[in-house]
Amino acid sequence: MKYNDIRKVFLDYFESHGHKIVPSASLIPNDPTLLFTVAGMVPWKGILQGTEPAFAPRVADVQKCIRAGGKHNDLDEVGFDGRHHTFFEMLGNWSFGDYFKDGAIEMSWDLLTNVLKLDPARLRVTTHESDEESTEIWRRVAGKEAIRMGDKDNWWSAGDTGPCGPCTEIFYDFGDQFDNEDDRWVEVWNDVFMQYDRDANGNLTPLPKQNVDTGAGLERWAAILQGKVDNYDTDLFTNLINATQDVVGVKRTDENTPSFKVIADHLRAVGFAIADGVIPSNTDRGYVIRRILRRAMRHGQILGHRGALLSKLYPALVTEMGDAYPELAREQSRVVEIIQNEENAFADLLQNGMKLLDVEIPRVQNGVLPGEIAFKLFDTYGFPLDLTQMILRDKNMDVDVAGFERAMAEQKERSRANTKGTRTLWESQTDLPATDDSYKYAPDENLNSTVLAILHNGEFVQSAKSGDEVEIALDKTNFYGTQGGQVGDAGEITRDGATVMTVTEAARVDNIVIHKGVLTDDLSVGDAVKTKINGNTRMQTARAHTATHLLQAALRHVLNEDVEQRGSKVSPDSVRFDFSFGRAMTAEEKQAVEDLVNKWIASDMPVSHEEMSIDDAKKRGAMALFGEKYGDTVKVISAGDVSCELCGGTHVYHTGEILHARINKEKSISSGIRRITMSVGTLAE
Ligand code: ALA
Repeated sequence: MKYNDIRKVFLDYFESHGHKIVPSASLIPNDPTLLFTVAGMVPWKGILQGTEPAFAPRVADVQKCIRAGGKHNDLDEVGFDGRHHTFFEMLGNWSFGDYFKDGAIEMSWDLLTNVLKLDPARLRVTTHESDEESTEIWRRVAGKEAIRMGDKDNWWSAGDTGPCGPCTEIFYDFGDQFDNEDDRWVEVWNDVFMQYDRDANGNLTPLPKQNVDTGAGLERWAAILQGKVDNYDTDLFTNLINATQDVVGVKRTDENTPSFKVIADHLRAVGFAIADGVIPSNTDRGYVIRRILRRAMRHGQILGHRGALLSKLYPALVTEMGDAYPELAREQSRVVEIIQNEENAFADLLQNGMKLLDVEIPRVQNGVLPGEIAFKLFDTYGFPLDLTQMILRDKNMDVDVAGFERAMAEQKERSRANTKGTRTLWESQTDLPATDDSYKYAPDENLNSTVLAILHNGEFVQSAKSGDEVEIALDKTNFYGTQGGQVGDAGEITRDGATVMTVTEAARVDNIVIHKGVLTDDLSVGDAVKTKINGNTRMQTARAHTATHLLQAALRHVLNEDVEQRGSKVSPDSVRFDFSFGRAMTAEEKQAVEDLVNKWIASDMPVSHEEMSIDDAKKRGAMALFGEKYGDTVKVISAGDVSCELCGGTHVYHTGEILHARINKEKSISSGIRRITMSVGTLAE
């Protein structure tokens, strides 16, 4: 059976057993605890936990997954056996409080043995040591005696917290001609019985419903159904490897096979991730993708290839998998451009780093490169440690990893010492209560408040004098402390009707609002004061913030729906907005965006400020920033019907208050990320 035909067999089976078939979710999970979608259950975490309603009692899909860089990490294994992948497809069926252990085991067994006709004698099963029930079901359904295993093998969760439970795994036996257990036995299906929710302290609470989460690796099924032991010998991988042979101009041999496998695997991970919106970068998932891409290039180099590789191979990926995943072709030009940029940048880096290594390698004693040199390569040339190790391994040399880590720790210590601003001082004030800043959205009144702490010259003091530059914390405030990209308010603190402090900016350290400025009279901890923000600056900032939402909506309108915010700074009457987009905007596009924003301003749409539950906000389709933590109750800012975003910032009430907007600049700040600066209000006028 062809790789691409297996999905249909799987989905048809479950559809005929009452399951709703849904498309794969994005590789970027809507879950800040995970870098990537690591399993088919990731999009359903809320349903399993009972915080989101199930849209159907039974569901099945084929989910794109990446396991690299997190708890589930297969990166280092790829290439050296036939079973590991960073990107893979997981076939899965779910019961959300519908069938449980019986149904799951019966259907898995039926599909494997009656539909796919796998020889039952070649299948073995495991159950959790505590799970008598599943063990009994296996005896009844398949006449199999399950091997009982502990938590390490037969308890499953996506991350350290969240839904989890015991599982039963089905293994296929390739035969006793394989001495190595890992070659002989391959896990073909995992049925997890999601019964518990694990909290950060490791406590298990029963979930509201008993659910089933199953996962089967499509690549492994392809191997078994095609009579191959190695997933990379199946039709789809053979085609990708043939395409690689053409691009690098080298034939696959026993020796160079790992490099071909790495490239085929990494092409899928990088291609799919970028198509889903990941941008190679120096942090989080962007860094994982950058590393995978560089690892692929390094293997291209081992094969004697120079220059662009994955960008040239991407069309082969579209040919192989584009029917199942239309986003691959839809995003093709953007993905290829982003990969090309990365490849060009890395080619230079590889060349410069290699120059340093060429000098250092002859100096190496006892076959071990000093850790400081490896660190310099990392720090100056962006060589990850594993790349340096890979290069040295070819020369039968090693890196002093402990020395590398020491150099890294020293560097961190140095930079910590440099950035020791007042933040750490405030962080050390653990007894200080959170500032009640619930008044920040109604800033006009003079708010009665009390001074809780005064920081002067790096020390917390009981009182400070007129003229002193200070930072103070209050019990309540109507100042907006810099947060979510919005610059904090300016204003004044008064006492008995007279100004006692001019506040130049309100900042935030965790949940404390810090008022920074200069005293115009002596001030002591415990003083009763009033807080008064500068209404003009507040207005300018509110204009800029609402304009930022309109800008984002206009960009998605003019460029495409996939434009996503990657950062912003909202200051009085000016906006800096970073977003994902693979190329420079044309002059016409910039004009169209500016015109659209001004059209929306001129139409004076109402801007609603509403509080609601996060679930209601999601239902409303409010845009959220990935990775941002939101509480249970959120603020939703909607401008007419053009924009609806989760946002804790301050905003105008009618778009007309923004007056005018003007795009000043549009430029690249890193691969795949653009930055627009825009002025609004009186500044734009
Ligand atoms: N969530 C389970 C797994 O990934 C099925 O193995």
